[in-house]
Amino acid sequence: MDKSIISATLLVLLLFVLHLQSEVHSFATTSDHDFSYMKFVYNATHPQLEATYDYIVVGGGTAGCPLAATLSLNYSVLLLERGSVPTAYPSVLREDGFLNNLMQEDDGKTPAQRFMSEDGVPNVRGRVLGGSSMINAGFYTRADKEFFLKSGIEWDMDSVNKAYQWVEDTIVFRPNLTQWQSAVKEALLEAGVGPDNGLNVDHIKGTKIGGSTFDNHGRRHGAVELLNRGEPKNLRVAVHATVEKIIFSSNTSSLSAIGIIYSDSNGRSHRAFVRGKGEVILSAGAIGSPQLLLLSGVGPESYLSSLKIPVVRSHPYVGQFMYDNPRNFINILPPFPLEPSAVKIVGITNDFYVETTSGLPFSTPPFSIFPNPSNPIKVDSSYGHIVIKFPGPLSYGSLKLQSSSDVRVGPNVRFNYLSHPVDLARCVSGMKKIGDLLRTDSMKPFKAEDLPGIEGFKFFGLSLPKNQTDISSFKIFCRGSVATFWHYQGGSIVGKVVDGGLRVMGINALRVVDTSVFNFSPGANPQATLMMLGRYVGLMMLQAR
Ligand SMILES: Cc1cc2nc3c(=O)[nH]c(=O)nc-3n(C[C@H](O)[C@H](O)[C@H](O)COP(=O)(O)OP(=O)(O)OC[C@H]3O[C@@H](n4cnc5c(N)ncnc54)[C@H](O)[C@@H]3O)c2cc1C
Ligand SMILES: *[C@@H]1O[C@H](CO)[C@@H](O)[C@H](O)[C@H]1NC(C)=O
Ligand SMILES: *[C@@H]1O[C@H](CO)[C@@H](O)[C@H](O)[C@H]1NC(C)=O
Ligand SMILES: *[C@@H]1O[C@H](CO)[C@@H](O)[C@H](O)[C@H]1NC(C)=O
Ligand SMILES: *[C@@H]1O[C@H](CO)[C@@H](O)[C@H](O)[C@H]1NC(C)=O
Ligand SMILES: *[C@@H]1O[C@H](CO)[C@@H](O)[C@H](O)[C@H]1NC(C)=O
Repeated sequence: MDKSIISATLLVLLLFVLHLQSEVHSFATTSDHDFSYMKFVYNATHPQLEATYDYIVVGGGTAGCPLAATLSLNYSVLLLERGSVPTAYPSVLREDGFLNNLMQEDDGKTPAQRFMSEDGVPNVRGRVLGGSSMINAGFYTRADKEFFLKSGIEWDMDSVNKAYQWVEDTIVFRPNLTQWQSAVKEALLEAGVGPDNGLNVDHIKGTKIGGSTFDNHGRRHGAVELLNRGEPKNLRVAVHATVEKIIFSSNTSSLSAIGIIYSDSNGRSHRAFVRGKGEVILSAGAIGSPQLLLLSGVGPESYLSSLKIPVVRSHPYVGQFMYDNPRNFINILPPFPLEPSAVKIVGITNDFYVETTSGLPFSTPPFSIFPNPSNPIKVDSSYGHIVIKFPGPLSYGSLKLQSSSDVRVGPNVRFNYLSHPVDLARCVSGMKKIGDLLRTDSMKPFKAEDLPGIEGFKFFGLSLPKNQTDISSFKIFCRGSVATFWHYQGGSIVGKVVDGGLRVMGINALRVVDTSVFNFSPGANPQATLMMLGRYVGLMMLQAR
């Protein structure tokens, strides 16, 4: 064949492939922070906020921001957030500030609110405009197909894809991999977690680079910037606004949410109301939304009565079915420092997901990252942190109020990590895969000494069992290395507390839109699906009117 025909054919093929790649997913293009939302953010002390709106959204978090922005396109919206604006905390806006945020002493105002689960596992939740998306590890990946089948939410997949794309166009970036992220990606492929799916936001078996809400200059974007897609003249955002209670209509024949009571940073109480076909929507997260329902008198009748909270509507499952994915992990100290990097790649199998971070600066072993390290780490050491998560989880617990009147006192939560035998078995297979991964050629440069097998790696904290067939040692390892993956969910789950449209059953004009409605984690990491959910439900509500 003529050489020019061959090269022309190749060129056409190449252009076609490039075209396909650019068609499949687009990402955000500019990477400067966009603080335009500041022009409609008010301090909760501002008297004009006390008004009547079409919609009130409680919690300016990962789902709440896209939801409020979308509703504001056609209706007036008040979004209330107890925390401050992200610019109040410089490390929130930077990738290398990740551990600083989690380590900061919790003074009641810091962006990461600490809590200890009754399982004894330290945890955190977001307390800042943008919610937990402003303190998280930034990894962005869509949910698995099973999630859409199992979640009980009424999905229209075409709208789902458009809503994900809306998020991706605004705040999601294609990451450049550091040496460590590339090496772990290669090691996963060598260890059999194939194929190589390149850069992809879909949940597909194999190893891929995902999206990130950190850009390649280490700046965090997050859900707060989705507020910029709202209609400024219809949207008011109140910060330092702690919602204490939902107000219900006194009409006994039909119960409706009609407003909320919130307090400002001086402790002064305020009210705001909804009109007409308006609604109150809770987006306060898996701890915050069930807590607010219970404090407002929506929950198990005898439990509320025992706390002397007047029962507005008996709801036996509020605060039940609380899930958290355990993060089982190893830490490796290589012979040279690793560049800082949050999560950028994932290995996906049917039983578990593998992710990694490295070299994120910290001063002391941070609370909630490396609980109970058995040997202390030098301040300037940089390390590789390799973690597994598994689908589900199937183990669950419940949430109980610590205070029956003060929303500032966080509830007690128990997750019962690994209590379901399938969870434990999945943990064992995931940790064994990390054993395979450490035995690959790709990982050899990170050994402190040139020794066979996993000998030669310097572990910080627990070391992985050396015998790959010794299941009982892996079970002990799994139980001993439980930290939180921070993917806690539940407390107002679909089918028990809310219906397939996320309306609280038996109450008009009240919905819950956040991770408290999930009974199954949406794929490897939830933030993509929570931002999509805010957009998706917002559009669904606009269309329904
Ligand atoms: C440290 C960490 C790392 C993570 N890493 C990743 C990751 O890399 N990728 C990923 O996909 N997911 C990650 N996650 C999980 C993900 O960030 C969360 O699942 C998600 O952000 C939860 O969204 P949400 O909308 O349900 O709640 P949130 O985003 O937490 O929003 C709830 C908001 O409600 C506010 N609120 C609560 N109560 C009240 C009240 N009474 N009045 C007013 N406001 C109130 C809170 O201040 C908060 O802003 C991580 C989470 C954490 C904490
Ligand atoms: C909000 O108002 C309170 C009380 O006046 C004040 O202490 C606080 O600093 C203000 N916050 C912001 C972000 O302006
Ligand atoms: C990321 O990688 C691309 C392609 O190699 C390069 O052009 C770009 O400069 C890199 N960006 C940063 C911030 O390193
Ligand atoms: C109670 O509310 C329902 C539904 O909004 C309405 O149809 C009914 O007339 C109301 N009843 C009273 C007594 O106000
Ligand atoms: C590894 O563990 C298995 C199962 O407990 C055991 O049968 C085997 O002897 C162990 N191998 C070594 C080298 O200790
Ligand atoms: C919302 O407003 C836009 C612009 O004003 C209009 O084009 C659109 O039809 C409205 N959508 C709904 C669902 O009301």
